[in-house]
Amino acid sequence: MITKIPTLDCSSAYLAVEQRDTPDSMPPSPNPDASRDFIQIYRSDPQAVHAELHAGLLAEQPAVSPKYLYDALGSKLFEAICELPEYYPTRTEAAIVECHLADIARAAGQGVTLIDLGAGNCAKAARLFPALRPVQYVPVDISVDFLRDAVCRLRQQSPHIRMIGVGMDFSASLELPDAVGQERRLFFYPGSSIGNFPPEQAAALLRRVREACGPDGGLLIGVDLLKDRQTLDAAYDDALGVTASFNLNLLLHLNRLIGADFDLRNWRHRGCFNEAHGRIEMHLEARRETRVSWRGGARRFLAGERIHTESSYKYARHDFLQLLERSGFGRIQTWTDERGWFMVCHARVR
Ligand code: AVI
Repeated sequence: MITKIPTLDCSSAYLAVEQRDTPDSMPPSPNPDASRDFIQIYRSDPQAVHAELHAGLLAEQPAVSPKYLYDALGSKLFEAICELPEYYPTRTEAAIVECHLADIARAAGQGVTLIDLGAGNCAKAARLFPALRPVQYVPVDISVDFLRDAVCRLRQQSPHIRMIGVGMDFSASLELPDAVGQERRLFFYPGSSIGNFPPEQAAALLRRVREACGPDGGLLIGVDLLKDRQTLDAAYDDALGVTASFNLNLLLHLNRLIGADFDLRNWRHRGCFNEAHGRIEMHLEARRETRVSWRGGARRFLAGERIHTESSYKYARHDFLQLLERSGFGRIQTWTDERGWFMVCHARVR
């Protein structure tokens, strides 16, 4: 069956790609995720999600995991954050990669299986393609629909690269499907997403990556470095209010997920550097005393009370290299920008 691929409507185009090997006599698969082009491992478990959010909202210091920032709108708002003048990490990392691409390709090697953790719109990995010439590209993300659309677009741009999208929560486990090539794996974890884990969890994740690398694999990772407070605060509390919308959108997501009745007008975004912990913290702060209820629970928040929604750790160069070494990596090469704001590292398994 050949289905016409419209140029702009990516969801239809994806369907066409899914169906491309289906013999005419067979009906197309009713479940596109069963195809070998996109493997969905992550299936949200509504009961587990409810239990986690319920416990987080009732905790003495209320907290919600940052993964709930990334529903469809949240993923788009994060893309917008990356365009903001104040949000330097994306732009700085891109400039480092552009400037040192040949060196990075020499360190990482060509013809790898490129596994992109938290791939999002896949744009960062796509910039590596001309230099790395991967034989296979495997974008991995928990935000399944967003990833599916991104892979669909990228397949049209780079039809010569084998691609398998994997919808999974790699913060829990990194068991990749068999379809992912075993030979010369290069894990790519850009954007300082590692900073969204507390250091001990970051080390555990890096150890899992190290295991999944195989004997000759490597890791290309971007990490945000410590810098002056003013720059950090502005990056997470921008003048246009996009980061505020990104944070507040989490409440809309909770309203849908657990039938909560958060009224966004009662909440404000807070994002600033906590020097003692070496991390940016994002919170949602009650503007006034407010009662929130959800399926099976309720809580009164006092004016000024906060829900912790994200931490973003910033590293000293030396501390991050130590973290990589503690996690089983060695032979580390690093590249930074002139201001020393951001660092890109290539590390091999030890
Ligand atoms: C995805 N992550 C690396 C971003 C960060 O900088 O911690 C998420 C973010 N939160 C607010 N702005 C951006």
